[in-house]
Amino acid sequence: MKILSVVGARPQFVKLAPISRALTGRAEHVVVHTGQHYDELLSDVFFRDLEIPLPDVNLAIGSGSHGAQTGSMISAIEPVLLSHAPDWVLVYGDTNSTLAAAVAAVKLHLPLAHLEAGLRSFNRRMPEEHNRVLTDHASDLCLAPTQTAMRQLGIEGLAERSVLVGDVMTDVLLQVRDSAKPGNALPEGVSPGDYYVGTLHRAENTDDPERLRSIIRALASLDKPLLLLAHPRLIEVARRHGISLDEGAIRAADSRPYPEMVALVSGSSGVVTDSGGLQKEAFLLRVPCTTLRSETEWTETVELGWNVLVHDNLDELAAVVSRPQPEQTSETPYGDGHAAEAVAAVLLNPERLPRT
Ligand code: UD1
Repeated sequence: MKILSVVGARPQFVKLAPISRALTGRAEHVVVHTGQHYDELLSDVFFRDLEIPLPDVNLAIGSGSHGAQTGSMISAIEPVLLSHAPDWVLVYGDTNSTLAAAVAAVKLHLPLAHLEAGLRSFNRRMPEEHNRVLTDHASDLCLAPTQTAMRQLGIEGLAERSVLVGDVMTDVLLQVRDSAKPGNALPEGVSPGDYYVGTLHRAENTDDPERLRSIIRALASLDKPLLLLAHPRLIEVARRHGISLDEGAIRAADSRPYPEMVALVSGSSGVVTDSGGLQKEAFLLRVPCTTLRSETEWTETVELGWNVLVHDNLDELAAVVSRPQPEQTSETPYGDGHAAEAVAAVLLNPERLPRT
């Protein structure tokens, strides 16, 4: 069997790692990198640190407006799909690379599987929400990470083509967690266990300079140093609008390779983020998370008390971030670290599916 994965952005490389391992020796696995992320720290380091074989094809599409980027990807992916004629096209998450590959695959009548299906923010202004809704509905197979996602797929009439596999990011995190060390990653004056880790990259938080200014002001007032691992998008927008990131409690730094990031989070007193993956990683590492959004797709983290959303009430951010540790939990809403095995089992045995 031939499975062709399309990836392009940082979180997709993390998800690819356990899938690549699970398929090794069991299927021909072709990996196509769209080139949506191209900086070394957003792309190459993941292949190196997570020991993922280098992509078979790199389309080098790069950045652009949503339409231009997605359109260029569709037209570049199509000939690759035609030449490989895979048994499955596997797409990951909710980026423009995901949607582009999904559109290219369905137009060619190739079986399409969507990993991390069924997540919803119900915020139709988020580019990721368009990408995931459209991809789920185009897919022949929706691979859901959680029960919540399965329920949502059912509500949208997709139950018959949906399978609960668990969350592949849990697989990676559990593997990396025990070997990761923060090493020299802490800047001067920051003591182990006495700092926060922050990330900020969503369009809704970065693209409006007034909103970005208010967030930076609120982060600067935290009671402990905040290691702000800055995505190039944040650095670029802040530079363009003359917004300094190194204010008050904030220590701005480049984004970090995955194992270092896990170690930093694990050794921190809390996380402040608008990333989806990091909310879950904080939960799995049992580090309190504060999410700079009005909604989350990972609702279990909030329900179990480990994640609090802060959007308009930025005045309350410092108090929320320094809140006491939540009650411990033994719940495992994101699976047991064997999701990639479940994905491989479903893809390699499509005859067992209710409908493909
Ligand atoms: C994308 C995904 C988002 C995901 C995030 C993970 C979409 C719509 N968004 O957002 O869901 O959470 O990746 O990081 O697909 N840039 C660089 N170097 C790079 C890549 C980007 O400097 O290697 C800069 C460029 O200025 C670019 C901007 O970042 O315009 C945004 O990049 P883009 O890929 O459009 O979206 P992300 O914000 O990375």
